[in-house]
Amino acid sequence: MNNEKDDMLSEETRSFSLDGKLALITGASSGIGRYLAGVLGRAGASVVLAARRKAVVAEEAARLREQGGQAVGIAMNVAETESIDTAFDEIHKLFGRRPDILVNCAGVALLKPFLEQTPEELDVVIGTNLRGAFLVAQRAARAMAEQGGGAIINVASTAGLRPGGMLSSYGATKAGLIHLSKVMAYELARNNIRVNALCPGNIETEMHREFEDAGFAQALVKRIPQRRFGQCKDLAGATLLLASDAGAYMTGTVLTVDGGQIVNSI
Ligand SMILES: NC(=O)c1ccc[n+]([C@@H]2O[C@H](COP(=O)([O-])OP(=O)(O)OC[C@H]3O[C@@H](n4cnc5c(N)ncnc54)[C@H](OP(=O)(O)O)[C@@H]3O)[C@@H](O)[C@H]2O)c1
Repeated sequence: MNNEKDDMLSEETRSFSLDGKLALITGASSGIGRYLAGVLGRAGASVVLAARRKAVVAEEAARLREQGGQAVGIAMNVAETESIDTAFDEIHKLFGRRPDILVNCAGVALLKPFLEQTPEELDVVIGTNLRGAFLVAQRAARAMAEQGGGAIINVASTAGLRPGGMLSSYGATKAGLIHLSKVMAYELARNNIRVNALCPGNIETEMHREFEDAGFAQALVKRIPQRRFGQCKDLAGATLLLASDAGAYMTGTVLTVDGGQIVNSI
């Protein structure tokens, strides 16, 4: 009886494995993306770390290789179609195939009152967080459809689920990305592609430091039932679930990892 239980457990544990998979992570030069590249690599995937700062992703990839993983760093500016195309061609040249997993993590924040945001700033936020994420996901999904399937994780935000002051354009792009994830999940199920939105709350990264520097830290923490900011490692379990066969029946999900911030009392 015990052996049967152990076998089942190991089968369930094995379903989180990413052995033999190729994963592309955008925004992998910093914060959440850089950390998640390591998580997917340690779960067995070959990982492609992409960002504009090629030297930084190359260095991080070298660090992951030293730890026994298979990793490369490539340049990709998600705001430029040509750069996305070049990056996908490079991945094909390097691996002879397309990614099975995409973590669409590249993003920029803009912390400014609605009345003060300029058209130029709006273009950058939309161009990166929404248009960029759309185009990378589309390019990846076309390849996944040809390859027989895949898993896409769009890194949105709780700011796309509830209004946050000074976050009008940022929150609007993340709300758009959440909606896009649902439509993609609906359309791409027939292609065996799962699409889910991961919504982190406040995670301590370079991006988050802007909020802390603006003096919001204490007020923000008070609104989180767990009374702490998240760390990148808090996103590891949810990401592995959505990326692997353990989440085989999950698509169109909006998964929050926020210490309970979204269910805070009114
Ligand atoms: N930290 C949080 O509290 C939090 C909460 C919810 C959601 N998120 C989301 O999580 C994601 C990662 O955020 P983070 O906190 O890790 O921020 P971060 O440390 O500032 O990292 C942002 C990443 O995005 C990349 N990036 C920005 N513009 C790009 C572009 N045009 N093309 C390609 N890559 C680009 C940056 O790389 P390069 O500069 O090298 O291009 C960097 O790797 C973002 O989508 C963010 O909105 C963060």
